[in-house]
Amino acid sequence: MMKDGRTVMLAVDHGYFQGPTTGLENPRKTITPLLPYADSLALTRGVLRTSVDPSQKIPIILRVSGGTSILKELSDEVVTTSIEEALRLNASAVALSVFVGSEHEKQTLANLAELVNEGERYGMPVMAITAVGREMARDARYLGLACRIAAELGASIVKTYYCEDFQKVVEGCPVPVVIAGGKKLPEREALQLAFDAVSEGAVGVDMGRNIFQSSNPVGMIRAIRAVVHDGKGVDEAMRLFGEKQPAKQIAR
Ligand code: R5P
Repeated sequence: MMKDGRTVMLAVDHGYFQGPTTGLENPRKTITPLLPYADSLALTRGVLRTSVDPSQKIPIILRVSGGTSILKELSDEVVTTSIEEALRLNASAVALSVFVGSEHEKQTLANLAELVNEGERYGMPVMAITAVGREMARDARYLGLACRIAAELGASIVKTYYCEDFQKVVEGCPVPVVIAGGKKLPEREALQLAFDAVSEGAVGVDMGRNIFQSSNPVGMIRAIRAVVHDGKGVDEAMRLFGEKQPAKQIAR
């Protein structure tokens, strides 16, 4: 989180169940040019070890749940990475998915509760991600339920999806909420999504595909920053998206 209370997290953890996701086939190549513009980087230990130089100062949100793939039931997750490993890797927070209403709801909520217990021993915050099962509606009633449960179990921040009446989701959740971007959209629509989410109470985004699958990933993350941190509207952000990129880096 930056001083303005907002955040642009860059999500590049998709491979943990999707394999070589489009745009992340070579994670280092994708991640490196985006690092100066991200407030934090959300990824697994495998990609952190292999694809991010240890000299990089970017805060790490370490994905620690998994054990499933797109070929099987996604909710059957376990915690894959220990708190000690997260500390060794200098993570700023750990993240895991919960699947409220799915086949393995209880297991994933127990994973969250146990991770919070472990994290508390070291002051390691936990981000809960409200994964949505194929059969679940992404509406405020469902996402509000999932976010609130995650917060009640001790998550310090919750990542969810934007939906109609999103402010109700935020109001019912006593910890900060960020949104995932979801599948690739036209840039204007993705910027509108980020604009609507922060206007309705999200503290920012944890966005992946709408940045790294864009025709201009650096332009897109700069445009997202303008919306999240500078209060810019979609038209102005679109102008930034189209601009030639300056060489200078953002100081962190
Ligand atoms: C999904 O499994 C991960 O949690 C992603 O980090 C999350 O969905 C955000 O990425 P995207 O903006 O591509 O949805």
